[in-house]
Amino acid sequence: MKFFLDSAHVNEIEHALEMWNLDGVTTNPRHVQASGKPFMVVIREIAALFAGTEKPISVEVNPHHTDYRAMVAEAEKLAAISPNFVIKLPAIEAGYKAVDILLEKGIRSNLTLVFSAAQALHAMRMGAYFVSPFIGWKESNGEETISFIEEIVAMRDNYGFSSEIIVAAVRNGRQIVDAGVAGADIVTAGFAVFQEAFDHPYTHVGLKRFQNFWDQTPYE
Ligand code: E4P
Repeated sequence: MKFFLDSAHVNEIEHALEMWNLDGVTTNPRHVQASGKPFMVVIREIAALFAGTEKPISVEVNPHHTDYRAMVAEAEKLAAISPNFVIKLPAIEAGYKAVDILLEKGIRSNLTLVFSAAQALHAMRMGAYFVSPFIGWKESNGEETISFIEEIVAMRDNYGFSSEIIVAAVRNGRQIVDAGVAGADIVTAGFAVFQEAFDHPYTHVGLKRFQNFWDQTPYE
């Protein structure tokens, strides 16, 4: 199971690389806006952090594009910036078509905004390098997501598609574990979600308890 950070904050990415052995990054227009920097500036800064590694950075095309030719043109421009870039495309008809064309050109794509298993299946058969089912949004909408992920994993395995499944819009440690049990390849989550998931209040209670015993015990 690989962990990607869903962020465009350089300081968060640096911390996650150093402390968590982060496997990659996903960005989206919301994260880029939150970074407070222009799009091209921030994606180049993130690319620099990963130079010399094979860790992927997902970078999203202009979400106003509804024509696959415009998506492909921007994808080519972005892919030329860094070999780590995987191009995020929306799961709409033009997005799937762009995946197919980019595959021919050797450019990897990440189909994003996937909310149904049928969307994921089509993305995989068109050759998406990553497929990103969003579970947080579905759960906010009262939908079940464990079988959603299980179905996508099963179809990928049934047909031997090479796509990796990124469970996205993850809000807590429980969802990280659910994604792992369902057989997803990757989870992408925000900095605070990982921080909380890697911790537990009882660990601190136990540590304090053991420190007290330690302090009452001679070392030699
Ligand atoms: C994934 O690639 C997306 O960037 C992300 O998970 C979107 O969801 P959120 O912004 O609601 O967390």
